[in-house]
Amino acid sequence: MALENFSMETGFIWTRNKNLSASKKLTISSEWLYRKMKKINNKTWYFRKNRYYPYILSFECTTMIIDGRSIANTILTNLREEIEKLSVKPKLSVILVGESPASLSYIKQKERSALITGIDFKLHQLSVDTTEKELQDLIYEINKNPSIHGLIVQLPLPKHIDTNKIIEAIDPRKDVDGFTSQNIGELFLGTADLISCTPKGIMRLLKESSVKIQGENIVMVGKSNIVGKPLSLLLMNAGGTVTVCNKDTKNVAEFTKNADIVIVAAGSPGLVKKDMVHPGATIIDVGFTLMDGKIRGDADFEALEPTCLITPVPGGVGPMTVTMLMENTYIATKSQIIHKNTKVS
Ligand code: GUN
Repeated sequence: MALENFSMETGFIWTRNKNLSASKKLTISSEWLYRKMKKINNKTWYFRKNRYYPYILSFECTTMIIDGRSIANTILTNLREEIEKLSVKPKLSVILVGESPASLSYIKQKERSALITGIDFKLHQLSVDTTEKELQDLIYEINKNPSIHGLIVQLPLPKHIDTNKIIEAIDPRKDVDGFTSQNIGELFLGTADLISCTPKGIMRLLKESSVKIQGENIVMVGKSNIVGKPLSLLLMNAGGTVTVCNKDTKNVAEFTKNADIVIVAAGSPGLVKKDMVHPGATIIDVGFTLMDGKIRGDADFEALEPTCLITPVPGGVGPMTVTMLMENTYIATKSQIIHKNTKVS
């Protein structure tokens, strides 16, 4: 039976097997198959000796990877079609202070996705000794410019600049990073239109991969303002039972062992090991560390991927973060078109 016989409805996994030399993309269309026997498209899968076996297919399924790049590409394609229907072309401004190679590389990815979706992209690169006041003035100028719909200030900022002050200078209607206190407050209440990109991207990855959240035990490792805190709120709002661990947590494994979903955003390569999670758990790896010339995530991918549904690094969360920035720029533009008579100050 060909893998293509699985119809595409919700998400993707990759399956590798003894007889195929390459990985094949396989689509899952019903509830995420885990732990025990599951039905997918009327076909039965089962779990035995730490492996999932498709019952109808006569090969061994050993790999289950959430392909963030593929999901992101589908969203970008759909987004492009929606953007073409708008009466104005969305415009995204990005402010970078300094020339950090990592920030420049992230910004390149944002520019590439903007090009794909038909969003105008403008980089304002300022020297590393730019003052807080100069940066604020540029933000106020962009806030007032009706032809710019989205604005982000690439973080981290140099130490002499107060990051919170700068974020608060951004008009919440143009805050496509979802970092301002107004947008964070609305995220808390579950009413936000502009949700932080990485947490939003992870929620979308879970949805597209049919991972259940309601009633599930979820462990968030990391409590940053950009990922851990907003994501734990989103997961709570979606009905998950969320535990947040941080670098001072005494025994992280004690929590992760009971988790149906583990999300790790600690910036500590290989932190989540095989013996810290149960087979069948979903692992979302937000880590992104350059080590010995290689990008490494926070989970021990090689050890975990035979038995867990897991995001790779790179190619998991990263592409979704950038894609959600484009989606937020579209949302902000649409809302500014609707309220175009409302003065943006
Ligand atoms: N630096 C690392 N991640 C981000 C992000 O999502 N937004 C901004 N503005 N800066 C970042």
